[in-house]
Amino acid sequence: MGYTTDLGSFLLKEDKQLFEAIMPIESAVKVIASLVKVAGLEGILGKAGKTNIQGEEVQKLDEVANQILIDYLSESGQFYGLASEELDQPIFPEKGKDAQYVIAFDPLDGSSNIDVNVNIGTIFSIHKRIGDGVENFLQEGKKQVVAGYVIYGSATMLVLSTGKGVNGFTFDPSVGSFFLSHPDMKLPEKGKIYSINEANAEKWDKKGLKEYIQALKGEGYTLRYIGSMVADVHRTVIKGGIFAYPSDRKNPNGKLRLLYEASPMAFLIEQAGGLATTGQEDILDIKPTDIHQRTPVYLGSKKEIQQLLGYLQG
Ligand code: AHG
Ligand code: MN
Ligand code: MN
Repeated sequence: MGYTTDLGSFLLKEDKQLFEAIMPIESAVKVIASLVKVAGLEGILGKAGKTNIQGEEVQKLDEVANQILIDYLSESGQFYGLASEELDQPIFPEKGKDAQYVIAFDPLDGSSNIDVNVNIGTIFSIHKRIGDGVENFLQEGKKQVVAGYVIYGSATMLVLSTGKGVNGFTFDPSVGSFFLSHPDMKLPEKGKIYSINEANAEKWDKKGLKEYIQALKGEGYTLRYIGSMVADVHRTVIKGGIFAYPSDRKNPNGKLRLLYEASPMAFLIEQAGGLATTGQEDILDIKPTDIHQRTPVYLGSKKEIQQLLGYLQG
């Protein structure tokens, strides 16, 4: 606690190989964190003037963060392959040709919040290399060796799991290091908050979902929805409750991407004692077929997810 354990010494104790893989991520997100704080001065707010493979408008900071991660991760030689929200196809860096891990990332999550100075983040997911091509990225979420996110909030935090629970590290910019501030994070069994873009309620196609949300209101729950998955999930880890991005009539698989949003967050939530489901199955059991595929997401405290499943399936 306090300043006694920095990220590097923590990981050296936990797993030396993963220490080497995670250090370049740490370096990259420190640079991103520093740019996020001065984006308005550096001329990197606003749109980049193009759309990505998802058909979504790319922001300048999406591109900047993506490039920083690609540079650090490729240069490190720790990764055989890199997949990103902002890359149509994965990259296989020359220096990583003998490496044993692959990584998928959302370089900048919460793009719509960049220009309004609201929390944004980075999400990442590491698997062991199993072959030579894209199959490396198409492994189930339960096979992740590391899942994590960084939240660029009032404090910058890195929240991480190597499969032995979840630990949160707070960045002290004056020292330049992340320190363990939230050891062994656990979701409360039950919370008081639901988090969903309720403006889409008329389009929801899942039977029972509206009734479930109505029931939560009746039980005195309150609504918090930031619109950055990282921030909404971070709050859910700390305060419990439920975060959801369901399917709807326009988006049969919802909006969130499996590889670099849903799956790493599901891994963290389950490692912290919560549950993460598509409504049909555990998110971590999905065998991906496409690096940019989407999935409905319901995650949070055990009580809420079990109650939700009763409504969806009942
Ligand atoms: P990204 O900025 O990486 O494209 O992700 C945006 C996602 C996610 O952060 C958030 O949960 C969701 O979009 C919010 O979507 P709505 O604006 O449709 O509610
Ligand atoms: Mn995102
Ligand atoms: Mn993004």
